[in-house]
Amino acid sequence: MKGIILAGGRGTRLHPLTVSVSKQLLPVHDKPMVYYPLSVLMLAGIRDILIISDPRDLGAFSSLLGDGRQLGITLSYAPQKEPAGIAEALLIGADHIGSDDVALILGDNIFHGPGFGEVLQGHVAGIDGCVLFGYRVPDPERYGVAEVDEQGRILSLEEKPEKPRSNLAVTGLYLYDNEVVEIARTIRPSARGELEITDVNRIYVERRAAVQVDLGRGFTWLDTGTHDSLTDAGHYMQLMEQRQGIRVACIEEVAMNMGYIDAAACYLLGEQIAKSDYGQYVMGVAASAPRVFAGT
Ligand code: DAU
Repeated sequence: MKGIILAGGRGTRLHPLTVSVSKQLLPVHDKPMVYYPLSVLMLAGIRDILIISDPRDLGAFSSLLGDGRQLGITLSYAPQKEPAGIAEALLIGADHIGSDDVALILGDNIFHGPGFGEVLQGHVAGIDGCVLFGYRVPDPERYGVAEVDEQGRILSLEEKPEKPRSNLAVTGLYLYDNEVVEIARTIRPSARGELEITDVNRIYVERRAAVQVDLGRGFTWLDTGTHDSLTDAGHYMQLMEQRQGIRVACIEEVAMNMGYIDAAACYLLGEQIAKSDYGQYVMGVAASAPRVFAGT
């Protein structure tokens, strides 16, 4: 399965923070926002990932993450000239997807929960149709909203409905079979002029080929759309990390734990940024990994 991170948009609700910097490069506590969705794809076992962003920002993403080799993955980059809709990512990424299935994740979506990697790996294998991930929210009218049956099959989908039929928001992580490219080619811009991802998903719903996984109560899905929610997300990560002594979405650690790189390579990545607590953490997890530092 291929991966796509959509990290464009104008970030206007975060001005002036985003006047000269991509929203998805802003800090969420100790790391750039894009580390969170990138780690989700890596945990799902996806190693070939396209990052789509505004032409202005692509250079900054590539100077942060490079070609991914240091993490044992392949990263490539493509521009989205205008924020013409989330579904446009599937058109921009058509060559990247090729004949594979694809996971699309929004660069500003933060997921955190126990066993999420295993959950994703289970769904990524042999996908037929589309898999969405639902999260119960008090304000569903701000999101895509799904109505599901007892088996999790989606019965209806609406984008920002005035009267939501459920409180299950559709999060910004979408798993599709290869047909999605053809489906994305058939949709037309909505009244607000965007290629809506909900229109793509609705075609799967009509085919009775869309399911939604309820992320459940123990899970956290964070919004970063406003100054307050961005600060809250940073505080949440700070609290989790201080209390648990682990770091969330540490891409070097994820790469090592997934077997993409060995502990020695992970250690070197930490050493390059050793003046920061983050770098020290990376060195620490690598040094305590039994395999390489036990003398092999
Ligand atoms: O976060 C989940 C929600 O994301 C879903 O519940 C909705 O169904 C889905 O439409 C989307 O809603 P938003 O209102 O959050 O979409 P927004 O236009 O804010 O875009 C989400 C992110 O994607 C944002 O960081 C900017 C980026 N983006 C957006 C568009 C439209 C792009 O990179 N390119 C685009 O063309």
